[in-house]
Amino acid sequence: MSVTDEIKSRIDIVGYVQRYVPALKKAGRNYKAPCPFHKENTPSFIVNPARQSWRCFGACAEGGDLFTFAQKLHGWDFKEALRELAHEAGVQLRAQTPEQKSRSDRLEHLRGILASAAEFYEQELHRSAGTAALVYLREERGLRSETIGRFQLGFAPESWDFMLRGLRDLGHSDDDIVEVGLAARSENGRVYDRFRNRLMFPIRDERGRAVGFGGRALGTEDAAKYINSPQTPVFDKSGLLYGLDMGKSAIRDRGAVVIVEGYMDVIQAHQAGYANVVAQMGTAMTEPQLRLVAPRFASKVVLALDADEAGQNAARRSLDVAREALAKDYAGKLAIDIGILRIPAGKDPDDYLRESPEGWDELVEHAQGVADFVIEMETAALPADASLQARQARARSILPILQVSENNIYRQENIQTLARRLRIGEREMLAWTQELAPRVRKRARLDAAPSDLPPAYWDNEYADYAPDSPMGDEPVDGAHETADAAGRSERAIEAYCLSVLLKNPNLLSQVNRKLRELAGDDEALSRGPLREIGADDFTQSGYRALMRYLQDSMAQDDLAPLEYMVEVIDEELRTEFYELQVDDPETIAERIGGNFRVDLNDIFSRGLRSGRPGLDGQDELVRRALQLRLERLEFERTELQYLQEEAESEDVSDDGQLRSIGDQIALSMQAKAKINWAVR
Ligand code: UTP
Ligand code: MN
Repeated sequence: MSVTDEIKSRIDIVGYVQRYVPALKKAGRNYKAPCPFHKENTPSFIVNPARQSWRCFGACAEGGDLFTFAQKLHGWDFKEALRELAHEAGVQLRAQTPEQKSRSDRLEHLRGILASAAEFYEQELHRSAGTAALVYLREERGLRSETIGRFQLGFAPESWDFMLRGLRDLGHSDDDIVEVGLAARSENGRVYDRFRNRLMFPIRDERGRAVGFGGRALGTEDAAKYINSPQTPVFDKSGLLYGLDMGKSAIRDRGAVVIVEGYMDVIQAHQAGYANVVAQMGTAMTEPQLRLVAPRFASKVVLALDADEAGQNAARRSLDVAREALAKDYAGKLAIDIGILRIPAGKDPDDYLRESPEGWDELVEHAQGVADFVIEMETAALPADASLQARQARARSILPILQVSENNIYRQENIQTLARRLRIGEREMLAWTQELAPRVRKRARLDAAPSDLPPAYWDNEYADYAPDSPMGDEPVDGAHETADAAGRSERAIEAYCLSVLLKNPNLLSQVNRKLRELAGDDEALSRGPLREIGADDFTQSGYRALMRYLQDSMAQDDLAPLEYMVEVIDEELRTEFYELQVDDPETIAERIGGNFRVDLNDIFSRGLRSGRPGLDGQDELVRRALQLRLERLEFERTELQYLQEEAESEDVSDDGQLRSIGDQIALSMQAKAKINWAVR
């Protein structure tokens, strides 16, 4: 049984819904209530206990299972729902090895120390020692008591051992206190408090657990305005966004996040009622920070950085990070809209919010587009009499940045603006842009055939995850059925293959043996279209990554392949990895593909009809892996043909190039024929 099924078998959907929708009453076989997700008087929200599913027949016209209900109700994403419901059901998400268990216990212990520290600092703020700090927060920074409490602001008194004493009394060792960064050890071995005479900002992770601190100097004589916790086993500043724990649901609701520089900016924004604001805590945004919010919760990211030069430079670097992140593995398929918020009169968000909180939404709404911002900033420093070379170089450096924002990329006007600003020919500029265009985008334009449509599930890997089909007795919404079907069935085959391989990595060699066998001793085939199976055979970003790990795991021999994968796999891939590993491949494929069975029957019909039933799992894997390869080849061939047409239409056609493309097409056809023959 899959984890999700296990959870669903333990939590009855009727009882769960009733907790939040007390009006839910029995009506025939089903339960009925006014829909909790929209306003209505006549109940059109139905829970079906037999199917353990729910559906709103009214305005929402939505339905699903326990998971989708909990997600919608609490604003959770799938992972959160999995975690929360697993906890409630008492289902262990992944069995921990003893080492993992002791490691996570250790981290929890360390976080416990930080939680106690946050309380000590908070108490101190409200004692006489903290009076000046409290007055400063209230009077000079304009924070209300409620805000101060909500962010658990605190005060570290002028003492070398205030925190040490407090934590020692709770039984913590000096080593632990040093390890979480609350104390430091001098060269002669003396241990002393790191934060002294500072306003304390607890920094929390996404789940609201204190993991570190920022400490602001109160006097001007202190060398550093802010001191932060050092890197510790629980604190990595570059992978955290300050305020995310409290801003998450607002970010998700609005689909937009505003990223500011500092603690105070976040607190001020929340106090003013703008909760979708988080801070990167100085310096430029990092990729892990970006990924915490986009595209996960928000498709719009607004960078609201300080007006000073440092802030503008940080914005520029943040854009680079965003561009790389987007280009790297979202392959341009995700449109994240990025804007730059410039605060009038050279103010910090904090100042602005205190003076004119009502203007904030408007400012965010009118954030400057990346293109304008970059063009303005990058050309400002160029002297009016710069040489053509210098201007061209500048243009080439600006163009890639313009790609940050999908919505702005190919806008003729951006290019025009830039061309005009730099006095460079527009045509020339356009040509450079084409050079820069990532391959994928070219592909997407090329292939109008439905089987090559980019998968519709990119935006949310779990969008169509709901294992249950909707209740059977209402008409099925057929609108996007056909468009998605091809993509879904391909994804289903991918999931099937990966699931089998993850359970038994050694089967990889079976697949590759088959490919070698088909290639015979034709090197062009074995290195080309009949090469070993790999990440490229998968279209899903997650699957590609998992496949790469699988290959890595086979290439090392320190650990068993699966142990190796458990060690190295990214956090975000774990749920998928685990499910692919635990669930039955057929079930997974069916869940993803919906009509997978039918599709497969179609695809493999020849084999099945010709009286060869009882394929064992291994044969089945080989056949389906070959099917994936066929899809890949088909894709590549379309591309080659496009190249061919292009080459033919050139004024002076390059015969050598044409021949080579022709050869490749022929080779690809040959490979396809061989595969078709093998799976016949
Ligand atoms: P700022 O210098 O803009 O501080 O640094 P601020 O948030 O506006 O603080 P106030 O308004 O003067 O109280 C922005 C952020 O950069 C990080 C902190 O996270 C700070 O909030 N920073 C700044 C440091 O980590 N160390 C520093 O020395 C300065
Ligand atoms: Mn400030």
